[in-house]
Amino acid sequence: MGSVPVLALCFLFILIGAKAGNQNGTIGFSRPKALSLGALFTLNSTIGKAAKFAIELAVGDVNNDPTVLPGTRLNVITQDTNCSGFLGIIEAFQIMEKDVVAVVGPQSSMLAHVISNVVNELHVPLLSFAATDPTLDSLQYSYFIRTIHSDYYQMNAIADMIQYYEWREVVAIFVDDDYGRSGITALGDALAKKRAKISYKAAFPPNADRTTINDVLVQVNLMESRVYVVHVNPDSGMTVFSIAKRLGMMTSGYVWIATDWLASVLDSSENPGPNTMNLIQGALTLRHYTPNSVLKQRFVSRWRDLLRKGKTTSSLNAYGLYAYDTIWMAAYAIDRFLSEGANLSFSSDPSFHDTNGSHLHLSSLRTFDSGNMLLKQLLSSNFTGLTGQLQFDSDKQLIHPAYEILNIGGTGTRRIGYWSNYSSLSVVTPEALYGKPLNTSSTRKQLYDVIWPGETTTKPRGWVFPNNGKPLRIGVPYRESYTDFVTKDNGPDNVKGYCIDVFLAALNLVPYPVPHTFILFGNGSANPSYNELVQKVADNTFDAAVGDISIVTNRTRIVDFTQPYTESGLVIVATVKELSTSPWAFLKPFTFQMWCVTGAFFLFIGLVVWILEHRTNDEFRGSPRQQIVTIFWSASCMYHSKFQRCFLAKC
Ligand SMILES: *[C@@H]1O[C@H](CO)[C@@H](O)[C@H](O)[C@H]1NC(C)=O
Ligand SMILES: *[C@@H]1O[C@H](CO)[C@@H](O)[C@H](O)[C@H]1NC(C)=O
Ligand SMILES: *[C@@H]1O[C@H](CO)[C@@H](O)[C@H](O)[C@H]1NC(C)=O
Ligand SMILES: *[C@@H]1O[C@H](CO)[C@@H](O)[C@H](O)[C@H]1NC(C)=O
Ligand SMILES: *[C@@H]1O[C@H](CO)[C@@H](O)[C@H](O)[C@H]1NC(C)=O
Ligand SMILES: *[C@@H]1O[C@H](CO)[C@@H](O)[C@H](O)[C@H]1NC(C)=O
Ligand SMILES: *[C@@H]1O[C@H](CO)[C@@H](O)[C@H](O)[C@H]1NC(C)=O
Ligand SMILES: *[C@@H]1O[C@H](CO)[C@@H](O)[C@H](O)[C@H]1NC(C)=O
Ligand SMILES: *[C@@H]1O[C@H](CO)[C@@H](O)[C@H](O)[C@H]1NC(C)=O
Ligand SMILES: *[C@@H]1O[C@H](CO)[C@@H](O)[C@H](O)[C@H]1NC(C)=O
Repeated sequence: MGSVPVLALCFLFILIGAKAGNQNGTIGFSRPKALSLGALFTLNSTIGKAAKFAIELAVGDVNNDPTVLPGTRLNVITQDTNCSGFLGIIEAFQIMEKDVVAVVGPQSSMLAHVISNVVNELHVPLLSFAATDPTLDSLQYSYFIRTIHSDYYQMNAIADMIQYYEWREVVAIFVDDDYGRSGITALGDALAKKRAKISYKAAFPPNADRTTINDVLVQVNLMESRVYVVHVNPDSGMTVFSIAKRLGMMTSGYVWIATDWLASVLDSSENPGPNTMNLIQGALTLRHYTPNSVLKQRFVSRWRDLLRKGKTTSSLNAYGLYAYDTIWMAAYAIDRFLSEGANLSFSSDPSFHDTNGSHLHLSSLRTFDSGNMLLKQLLSSNFTGLTGQLQFDSDKQLIHPAYEILNIGGTGTRRIGYWSNYSSLSVVTPEALYGKPLNTSSTRKQLYDVIWPGETTTKPRGWVFPNNGKPLRIGVPYRESYTDFVTKDNGPDNVKGYCIDVFLAALNLVPYPVPHTFILFGNGSANPSYNELVQKVADNTFDAAVGDISIVTNRTRIVDFTQPYTESGLVIVATVKELSTSPWAFLKPFTFQMWCVTGAFFLFIGLVVWILEHRTNDEFRGSPRQQIVTIFWSASCMYHSKFQRCFLAKC
């Protein structure tokens, strides 16, 4: 009877005992008093400002938390890469000299590529919360860990949006560095899967001035597509929109989709102001989606307090959240790494010895001995942070990539839906769908209505006739006979006639202008060859031809015709053999065999009637001759559908 409480008490003792033993154990491994993380990013940037403060907060929180890294003080050594590739590399080397166990950053994808090679050699894990370039997933960069979702997913989200709105071609406007180029390549691949494509890639160099961007946008405006995907850096992105606005490209008919940089810019300033908001009315942008949680709400209000107190200059954006979680991820992993009894030891690599006469102190770079153990711990992270569940799949990708889709209007943004790798587009939050079986029915894929540029709610068509000076070339036969159909004219159109009237009336029904020029074919003193005219359309000398052109099989093989609009209609002319004039011509409709079958049926029906009737009907009796006559007679009655009447008369 008393055994249950006793058993419970035993468990309690065991639990307490295990805990004490564990603590004893970890302390026994002489944890270091302090350890350092490196941090590399551009402090004076949209992402960097938020990230810097988020990292400071995270380090403070880790040091204040007795359960993680007890007895060890976490330091972060921050270096400003100042948006410069070369400077960034030097800074990275300077950080490596300080025996850091992991590096948080860099912000730029270009630096991430270079530094990945350095950390591969030194076995120092690189945790980047901002380098979203999809090509960094390469297996070559084994010490690179991305603690944010790759642009691969963002580009798939955009491709799904393009498909949802039924556009076929987009123009990509991007900054031509690793980040921009790789992102747009991923977009091209994602669009190809949806049978859409990038019709034009408009690249401009990093740090381009206004004139360069202006030239790029003027070029873009001449293109057929009116759907623009803008994938640029947060710090120069608004320039693109301010120039687009000046060029009148933020009006109705245009579609602007900005990648998550625009959301970061808007999130980073407490109140962007009407000057900024006016530039981007009607644009769509994406934002890294992080599920709402008590943890996140508390952090957001704490940040807001500190911002009001002037401790930081930037509002919180998605990158700030990821930067905060990255520090915690590192802290948890180092904690487990130390619990395993691993050492924070560094050793010199003889291959780094200075070459003769060099003043680069490469020999001060030392390899982190247990770097691969820490890497393993980092990749097996599994905890809930501000950005939700942080866990890596077997491809080193954070699980559950998801984005919010925002529409900018008025003084703020409006969320029109979500995209997640699992459920594609939806109006319900992604985490509400993760547990459920995938519903691929197209009705599920939906977004709320968008207010497009020009304050219209009708979905832009997405393309126009390119006004880059190329009207349609319409070939018109210039003949000497039947000039009512088409002929030369001295009017503005150059041509006149019935066919031209029909063509112009049809153009009027098209809801957009179709620039065209008529080009005469032939010299008016002889009839031109229509076969040649059709061939010229096929050869692309003309874009189309208008005139009294007959639709014949040969021509339909090389061009498409409209429905015929003159009296003759669509006719097929076939050759026939000469008509027979013999008196037996009436036999022609049926073949000889058909006549035989008809005769056989005639007899057969007579026979059937005779068989049925001769037992009961006196008319079907008598001599064989009489009966045969009756058979023929009833059969012929039948043939004339008068059988019954004949019969009744007889009765
Ligand atoms: C574990 O702690 C006990 C007392 O709490 C102590 O006697 C023992 O020496 C410790 N063991 C180690 C390995 O530090
Ligand atoms: C930060 O950047 C802004 C513009 O991007 C510039 O005006 C300012 O001088 C920069 N500050 C520093 C300290 O570099
Ligand atoms: C960053 O670079 C700019 C020029 O690109 C320079 O004016 C500025 O002084 C640099 N800031 C730092 C902190 O190095
Ligand atoms: C850590 O260092 C100690 C001595 O300094 C050594 O006994 C131990 O084996 C090392 N542990 C690992 C995992 O290398
Ligand atoms: C450096 O130069 C000295 C003589 O100038 C030579 O003996 C030595 O081998 C050189 N070391 C290397 C690493 O090349
Ligand atoms: C991660 O943690 C959650 C609970 O926090 C647990 O349900 C899940 O199984 C863990 N995943 C792995 C791979 O350990
Ligand atoms: C994304 O979705 C695909 C297909 O459902 C899946 O194979 C992949 O693992 C997902 N990726 C992540 C990071 O969840
Ligand atoms: C999928 O979603 C549609 C629309 O919401 C719903 O009608 C349908 O029942 C769903 N199918 C499944 C299998 O849940
Ligand atoms: C008009 O073109 C035909 C061939 O299409 C040619 O035979 C004729 O000589 C030309 N007439 C003039 C006046 O050029
Ligand atoms: C049809 O076209 C073929 C080759 O394109 C040509 O040889 C032939 O003469 C044409 N027939 C007619 C009736 O135009």
